[in-house]
Amino acid sequence: MGKQLIRETPAKVFLVLFSLSLLLNIFFFCQHFFSHPLFPPIGSTVSDPSWTRRAAEEAEAVAAISCSGHGRAYVDGVLDNGRPMCECNTCYTGTDCSVLLSNCSADVESGDPLFLEPYWMQHAAKSAVVLSGWHRMSYATTDNSKSLELEKHIRTLHAAVGNAITDGKYLVFGMGSTQLLNALVYALSPENASSPASVVATVPYYSMYKGQTELFNGRDYEWKGATAKWMKSNKTNFIEFVTSPNNPDCLLYNSALGGSSVIYDHAYYWPHFTAIPEPADEDVMTFTMSKLSGHAGSRFGWAFIKDENVYNKVSDYLHYNSVGGASRDTQSRLLNYVKVILAEIGSDGDIFKFGFNKLRKRWHKLQVLVSSSSRFSLQQLSPQYCTYFKKIRDPSPAYAWLKCENEEDTNCAEVLMKGGIISRGTGFGASTRYTRLSLLKTDDHFEMLLQKLKPLVTSPDENSSNISSF
Ligand SMILES: Cc1ncc(COP(=O)(O)O)c(C=O)c1O
Repeated sequence: MGKQLIRETPAKVFLVLFSLSLLLNIFFFCQHFFSHPLFPPIGSTVSDPSWTRRAAEEAEAVAAISCSGHGRAYVDGVLDNGRPMCECNTCYTGTDCSVLLSNCSADVESGDPLFLEPYWMQHAAKSAVVLSGWHRMSYATTDNSKSLELEKHIRTLHAAVGNAITDGKYLVFGMGSTQLLNALVYALSPENASSPASVVATVPYYSMYKGQTELFNGRDYEWKGATAKWMKSNKTNFIEFVTSPNNPDCLLYNSALGGSSVIYDHAYYWPHFTAIPEPADEDVMTFTMSKLSGHAGSRFGWAFIKDENVYNKVSDYLHYNSVGGASRDTQSRLLNYVKVILAEIGSDGDIFKFGFNKLRKRWHKLQVLVSSSSRFSLQQLSPQYCTYFKKIRDPSPAYAWLKCENEEDTNCAEVLMKGGIISRGTGFGASTRYTRLSLLKTDDHFEMLLQKLKPLVTSPDENSSNISSF
């Protein structure tokens, strides 16, 4: 009996020790993985960044360079003594852009959406993006050429703003909506038809439609000008561009010909530029980040397409034209901006409130000035109920469509040019009595426009002597 006990004891001790060691191992294993997960939990931040620090410090140092509020320095700007130089707004010069040039014209020709630059400066922390050197090097992103997260957020944004119904529609991304315009003309053109499709738009139209259609000179389509010419025609083979709100007169438009192949260009169908009476729900709709967030340089636009065949043809076009359209880097950067826009909706940081207030004030100032004489007139825009702001709101157009009313002022852009204002008077298929003034640029551009326009409005006969009167 005693001998047996002595024989059994080492086996029992071994078993107890082995079990204890197993338990301890399980304990340490759990400790390690639950307190130090492989990936930090979503939403947590790295408290002590290592490899991003230099890039972050450089971005902040360059952003802090003072350009007197009349210019900006960029991380990729030309260096002066190892430091990026200020790039000054038109009419400003000097190392810090503090010198106002005399003899300088107000350049309000282009639709460069710099009016939103201060918005992103106010949202510097939220909008900053840091990407690693190995970020998305592949041709492919999450859905071949398209970031699925960006797609999800764009659809969510349209639903939140109420400016488009996107359910049941395919989405394509392009290098700006400009790339998609011709892709859609190509895709909507009938193959092997006896005559090419006629591409048309209503005057005054965005000049790119004509320019692009003529440049690409496709076998299956050709530019046929203004819709007005074809109203009574029984031709069916039309592709109509409808821009709503329109560039340059900023009115909401519908199809003039009522055919089946219509490209609705909704570049400006956002609450900073127009009331949103109802969500757009057309079969082919294009939008662009250039006018939504102001990031024109990122070259990003998108189109919703109802028909699968049209979608497939657009996808083919994008594949052969640019291996899938929008840059994957651009998509990563813009995803963050769409997130910021979404998160700020309804708050004081709402981009649509910001944009609306800025453009409404500019439009109001211009209207007051222009209406002080009969020499010029502007397009008629009325307050309208907006489902986004849930109230009747004033107009806040992207452009002024200015008409020279004096009989002798047959070329309005030239009249303005003599007065020191660079406007856009051609390309819209309209009379040269009209010219477009962009209200989208910086405060400097807009203030200069007012200063140059004032003498033209108040003393029409002295316009040519005002060229150098800034
Ligand atoms: C009506 C309209 N559509 C499209 C575009 C082009 O936009 P993106 O910068 O996306 O090519 C513009 C640009 O001014 C525009 O005014």
